[in-house]
Amino acid sequence: MKKVFLKDYQSPDFEIEKVQLFFDLHAESAFVTAQMQFKKIKPVADLFLDGEELKLVSIELDGKTPSYDEVEKGLIIKNVPDSFSLKTKVELKPQLNTALEGLYKSNGLFVTQCEAQGFRRVTYFMDRPDVMTNYEVTIEADKAQCPWLLSNGDCVSRKDLGNGRHQAVWKDPFKKPCYLFALVAGDMGVIKDTFTTSSGKKVSLEIYAPHGKQERCGHAMESLKKSMKWDEERFGREYDLATYMIVSIDDFNAGAMENKGLNVFNSRLVLADPQTATDADYDAIESVIAHEYFHNWTGNRVTLRDWFHLSLKEGLTVFRDQEFSMDQSSRAMVRIDNVDGLRNWQFSEDAGPNAHPIRPASCFAVDNFFTSTIYEKGSEVIRMMQTMVGRPGFRKGMDLYFERHDGQAVIIEDFAKAIAEPNHQDWSQFKLWYSQAGTPTVTVLEDYSPATKTYTLELSQDCPQTSQEKAEGITKQPFHIPLVVGLLGKDGKDLPLKNSNVAKNTEGQDLIHLKKSHEKLVFENIPERPVLSLNRQFSAPIHLKWNADLSTLLFLMQNDSDAFNRWESSQKIYINTLRDLIHKARDHKSLPVDAAVPTAFLTVVTSRNLDSDLKAKLMSLPQTDYLSQLEPVFDAVAFKAAQDTLLHSFSTKATDALLDIYKTYHGKNEQSRSAIEFGHRRLKNKALSYLSLQPQFEDLVWNQFSTAKIMTDQQAAFGLLLESNTPQPSRRDQAIQEFYTRWKSEFLVLTKWFALQASADHEKTFETVVGLTEHPDFNLKTPTLVYSVISRFGENLLSFHNPKHDTYTFLADKILEVDKLNPQVAARCASGFDMWIKLPTGQKEKAHAQIERLVRTGLSSNTHEILSKALQAT
Ligand code: TRP
Ligand code: ZN
Repeated sequence: MKKVFLKDYQSPDFEIEKVQLFFDLHAESAFVTAQMQFKKIKPVADLFLDGEELKLVSIELDGKTPSYDEVEKGLIIKNVPDSFSLKTKVELKPQLNTALEGLYKSNGLFVTQCEAQGFRRVTYFMDRPDVMTNYEVTIEADKAQCPWLLSNGDCVSRKDLGNGRHQAVWKDPFKKPCYLFALVAGDMGVIKDTFTTSSGKKVSLEIYAPHGKQERCGHAMESLKKSMKWDEERFGREYDLATYMIVSIDDFNAGAMENKGLNVFNSRLVLADPQTATDADYDAIESVIAHEYFHNWTGNRVTLRDWFHLSLKEGLTVFRDQEFSMDQSSRAMVRIDNVDGLRNWQFSEDAGPNAHPIRPASCFAVDNFFTSTIYEKGSEVIRMMQTMVGRPGFRKGMDLYFERHDGQAVIIEDFAKAIAEPNHQDWSQFKLWYSQAGTPTVTVLEDYSPATKTYTLELSQDCPQTSQEKAEGITKQPFHIPLVVGLLGKDGKDLPLKNSNVAKNTEGQDLIHLKKSHEKLVFENIPERPVLSLNRQFSAPIHLKWNADLSTLLFLMQNDSDAFNRWESSQKIYINTLRDLIHKARDHKSLPVDAAVPTAFLTVVTSRNLDSDLKAKLMSLPQTDYLSQLEPVFDAVAFKAAQDTLLHSFSTKATDALLDIYKTYHGKNEQSRSAIEFGHRRLKNKALSYLSLQPQFEDLVWNQFSTAKIMTDQQAAFGLLLESNTPQPSRRDQAIQEFYTRWKSEFLVLTKWFALQASADHEKTFETVVGLTEHPDFNLKTPTLVYSVISRFGENLLSFHNPKHDTYTFLADKILEVDKLNPQVAARCASGFDMWIKLPTGQKEKAHAQIERLVRTGLSSNTHEILSKALQAT
């Protein structure tokens, strides 16, 4: 396995002026002929083409057989002239392709996945994003088996070839890197709509799905139209082809793929109706449809030079899809959900053995770059830029970025320049966010002097070395951290701030630029001791260490004008309480809860001036993932004891009020998909989750489960039954059975059935999961099922790290099995071991032994990279 470094980047030796691809598709084989026009850019003798799992049938250079070598990862063609045409023909076996990279089959459909390096499994090529060229694609296949023959761009001809076969020719007018190539051939249903762009061009919108599933594509179609409109209004970006196609399939390694003009989607991110999809599924569909659509400009029109710069397109496109989602409903509520996700996933990645900067300096397997650091932290860094220059300034920068780089393959530096220049920003220090990994901690000290009416804020920052940085001896510089700040007076209103280092941005936010490792800010003319509200809207992706007492946090939770910090204060209250309980549980002490905390909870539940969504959020405890980062040891037993204790104290304290909420919202407006109704249902199901902890409400939960008209309600109740311990244990089994019987023929609902069981916090979860992997409907070749059962179980921290069971051997065995079929999927399952270094003695050694066993086996480079990094954890 070879480590590749960013610093070794070399521009390509050759240019490919155009490529014509000819696909001859049959049931047992596919033949791909590539006709390419090459031009030498550098004075080299040989041409190297990437190729994997290909069987070379023939090769011609300017009509003659060249001298060439077939090597492990490609083809070397010797002593080539300055300009030449090359024609290769290869044979593929799509039906045997379980890695789901390159050309494969899904339910009888031929489909490609080329990002990151799948095109080298389609044909010999210079498989790198800085080689951009024009594509003309001819597809021939059986007419009955494959009535649809799709590729990128415009269909320029279709004809019947007789003998039961037909042909289509596609031309993409835009140059593109090969990772954006796509082909789909098969039999599908389709829904069509149109969109008229701001300049009056009519675009045909087509969503393809299995026959009979078309009526579930409506929400995806609406989301697409909203995205197209939003990108015109917010960023002035118009769609550029006559057709936009989306294909929904069940077998897909990731969520979705932005191939030019022909997106391919995991069906869970396209298909929805209220009976089979939850409110959260509807939101996910809207945001991923938007994400892939936005890639057309950030990713496709302007693409990346090399994979180390993946965040150039992914961070930026996540930022764009998050902004889009924020504009669809409440900006603050979406922000809270996004930050919650960031802290649970990205912060734990940044704290674990796979910590890496958003522009990594080296790698083994490119596929492992598709991380929440590249995506979600990448988005946070762009959000900080927008916070610093304001929205109009950011738009100016984006306009310049497209103007300068349309049609190019560029790097992150080019993006940062385009935003900084028109806004006159010096981001030399800010750009350390691109090269330094880890989550900084900002520590706060405050002082108020009534005599001088001054308030002093002392901030210091620190970001410990990651294991990688330790190994490489990298020491870190302080970050440039933009913090939105407010000071609240006694009445809860913001005080005017007077400090030469605090400037308002164009959004009217007061902004501190923390640049040194230690800084002191003095605010003058502060009439009374203020209450600090720092890092409003989560303006910077940091841990904030601030020892505010309970009454201060309660005050902020009730009064802060920043909704994000109201939620943040609730989380701080719960975190402080839980950590205290965890420490006591570790010392085998009793677990008394300070009465003020359930009282605070009751205040939230009974509050009359909170929107349902915010109320539900203020009622939610932090997830175990985030909590575990704050403790040096992850002791699942102590964590569970602490969480159960706090949840029960809330449930008993607020019983009547919770029941009130439940009765107010249950069974109302079930068919409405408005954000308000989503919020009501979220709140109602949150209330039910607390009630379910008391035996007297078992029937209430069961009743919702068995009479639910919408999946949001059925899934919520099913999840609770899977975690219930009292008093009728057979209800758990009965629920599992009934849900299965009802939904076994609905693939997407069946994946929920698997996933919910694997995620449940219950003594029986391990036993259940082992059974699920032997279930006749389970299949190791289907990524969505593997993620539902195996990844979900590895992420289920309380059950996976329950010391009573030999879960680590189980996960290791499954990773080995999956790795033989699909390395990308296995590598994702392997991150279940990331936590090992923080486990209590006994468990730690067991997990370590399994990682070692795996690393000693012949693993794919994807999985090997993740696990060998885990072994180096310190
Ligand atoms: N580019 C895709 C996105 O973010 C991600 C993706 C699709 C992907 N398929 C993949 C990543 C396969 C890794 C492997 O929208
Ligand atoms: Zn993306």
